[in-house]
Amino acid sequence: MKRVAILVSGGGSNMVRLVESMTGDHPARPVLVGSNDPQAGGLVKATEMGVPTFAVDHRPFGKDRAAFEAELIRHLDAAQPDILCLAGFMRILTPGFIRHYEGRMLNIHPSLLPKYKGLHTHARALEAGETEAGCTVHEVTAELDDGPILGQARVAIEPGDTPETLAARVLVQEHQLYPAMLRRFAESL
Ligand code: GAR
Repeated sequence: MKRVAILVSGGGSNMVRLVESMTGDHPARPVLVGSNDPQAGGLVKATEMGVPTFAVDHRPFGKDRAAFEAELIRHLDAAQPDILCLAGFMRILTPGFIRHYEGRMLNIHPSLLPKYKGLHTHARALEAGETEAGCTVHEVTAELDDGPILGQARVAIEPGDTPETLAARVLVQEHQLYPAMLRRFAESL
């Protein structure tokens, strides 16, 4: 069995779908959910699903990303993860952290990468007059929102879409795509 740790910053709807997917003949199991926000809704949901949680509040660390990440790594490595999934984790990670989990860290990003790296992806896609949007699951490498693409899902942009309506439709696709890509990745290890 592969051991999966998941990092969230918010509500954790993708994390819930990942955890729910890892049953039966799935080659992986969730072992830990962590957050940089002690108030993250995802931590409550993980606890309700019986998955151990931790939080390392990034704020007391100020600009010292390395010290913040050392604490994250301490918690994560105690659970001996084979795979680390970022699921709406909204802190930029240093090359040192990424190197530590290289080859075993996945992320979901709400755009059709390589388009719209970073924040406000849906607003930017609408402003640019795109006819489609979507989401991408990729391996994490040192460049922001870069790294080998494992899969994408596409959503047509409808007349009258706002960043919110578009985000809601893309999120439905994220919930399908991420569990499917995690399963394939776990099978490949
Ligand atoms: C998701 O849409 C995810 O793609 C996005 O944050 C949301 C988290 O929702 N991630 C990023 O923007 C990463 N830069 P969730 O907490 O309900 O899974």
